[in-house]
Amino acid sequence: MCGIVAYTGPREVYPILIKGLKRLEYRGYDSAGIALINNGMNVYKKAGKVADLDESVQGKDLGGHTGMGHTRWATHGEPNDRNAHPHTSQAGDLAIIHNGIIENYASLKEALIERGHEFKSDTDTEVLIHLIENIQKNTGESLEESVRLALSEVVGAYAIVILSKSNPGVLIGARKGSPMVVGLGEGEGEFFIASDATPIVEYTRNVVYLNDSEIAIIKDGELTIKTVSNETQTPYIHELEISLEALEKGGYPHFMLKEIFEQPKSILDSFRGRIHHEHLKIVMAGINQYEEKLKNIKRILIVGCGTSWHAGLVGEYLMEELARIPVEVEYASEFRYRNPIIGEDDFVIAISQSGETADTLAAIALAKEKGATIFGICNVVGSSIPRTTHAGAYTHAGPEIGVASTKAFTAQVTALILMSLSIGHKRGVITDNRMRELLTELETIPAKVEKTLKSDDYIKGLAEKFMYAKNFLYLGRGVGFPVALEGALKLKEISYIHAEGYPAAEMKHGPIALIDEEMPVVVIATQRNHYEKVVSNIQEVKARKGTIIAIVTEGDKVVKGIADYVIEIPDTEEAFMPLIATIPLQLLSYHIAVLRGCNVDQPRNLAKSVTVE
Ligand code: G6P
Repeated sequence: MCGIVAYTGPREVYPILIKGLKRLEYRGYDSAGIALINNGMNVYKKAGKVADLDESVQGKDLGGHTGMGHTRWATHGEPNDRNAHPHTSQAGDLAIIHNGIIENYASLKEALIERGHEFKSDTDTEVLIHLIENIQKNTGESLEESVRLALSEVVGAYAIVILSKSNPGVLIGARKGSPMVVGLGEGEGEFFIASDATPIVEYTRNVVYLNDSEIAIIKDGELTIKTVSNETQTPYIHELEISLEALEKGGYPHFMLKEIFEQPKSILDSFRGRIHHEHLKIVMAGINQYEEKLKNIKRILIVGCGTSWHAGLVGEYLMEELARIPVEVEYASEFRYRNPIIGEDDFVIAISQSGETADTLAAIALAKEKGATIFGICNVVGSSIPRTTHAGAYTHAGPEIGVASTKAFTAQVTALILMSLSIGHKRGVITDNRMRELLTELETIPAKVEKTLKSDDYIKGLAEKFMYAKNFLYLGRGVGFPVALEGALKLKEISYIHAEGYPAAEMKHGPIALIDEEMPVVVIATQRNHYEKVVSNIQEVKARKGTIIAIVTEGDKVVKGIADYVIEIPDTEEAFMPLIATIPLQLLSYHIAVLRGCNVDQPRNLAKSVTVE
């Protein structure tokens, strides 16, 4: 939700900002803007994409060595030029960019209006910069102290950067609930601030992740970190591991396609080094340290949102099947708004690609407060969730830039497989022989995914046939059900075709009424479990003239005989099937969306990292 980038140092600032904003655009793309210090403050902002901003500023004064940029996902106020960030103070000396929500903005605004402040936008953000200005004027305090005092009055979530015309070369960043990272440049006095490391990695590998309620003050070529309650902090410098190539499209037309095709590698990376075959051991430091507790655990709760919630549903199947532990899977947003029964004996798994989803963070906070042990499965290293959980495992899928999640999903499922195998073996549910068999099979998955990707041309042909469909139904049973849900979500997200995922047997309790010759039905009909039942469900659709696209196991004969189209995937253990069966569904959505002319990597109204509740 909203991307932030700022710079001060010896280089020209504009190219750094515009390139950084393009990298951050996955976080929001309703409008974009920049502020540059160059004998005064130049602010340029515009509704639309970063490219529109770049085009509109050509020929303007873009010089300067200190500045900041923002790409917006609108929360308060329509995404027009006026509401685009940066926002300036009454006198125009100060400018702010903000990611998050100021919840008490209405009362603050009212008080400021009474003191003569006039507002130019409908945003909550503008209120904050007026508040800082007002405090500075009334107290005569320094800029950084005024920012600190203002933040102590603010309720809500924020990652902000402030620039001041009369303090050129000074950058002030602060965060609470929204991510922020400070990059320490190689040159003297060179600093970056950003929502994540993607705009920074090109220039430096040394970063400091700000914690909640911390303020980064960059002044006189030095970085100082203070808390909102005025305690000075010692910065902890991390070294970035992401590579620049991972942030580029590498010859693919879209990030999404690149990320789909990366899955043989990303799945491998998520179990690489973690399987110790000889000792039948899975090494996941986080989980190993809780093994004793997990041996006798009564239940596990899984929380997540969107695709991560779907991975959680696969996790439920895995944990119950392989470790015989009862599991409940909850939307993080729902979990926190009831009064969940949870306590010290519970183990919560929070799943999140970005590690920043506000609802998931809030669910973690609630579960923690009630004494539960929290384990995180996240992709973005150094993000908020891994820093707030008791233990966890990174998925190591590499940066996922396409807004629709693909490789992160299969990596999350891989991490859940490893956890289930480890716990199941420790609890004696999985015998040594079975463990050996399962580990050997797991290691074949990357090659099987590679083989599945070879159906790309065939799937593109299918996409041409179905690109004008108005609705799609996706059906699956058992572990195939979350796969169906994920297939439907992918199609909705990027092609704007209405799609529903349903447990195949539930179809007859409602959705069957929708079936006619206009309705393509995608069925996960792989062979291991429930096969005959799924065949019956396919017959039910065919009897009502629906068109069947079936995902079948190589060598299948029965479904091939009745389905209209089949996509073959290699056979595997039922528990590992989602890792393979999801791939054709990702490709189908991708090709349909491209054929319909949709912006696959940046679908309308969505954002990759949802940092508002
Ligand atoms: C957004 C994204 C989805 C993602 C969900 C959860 O809605 O568009 O692709 O699944 O957030 O994100 P997380 O980063 O927590 O996995």
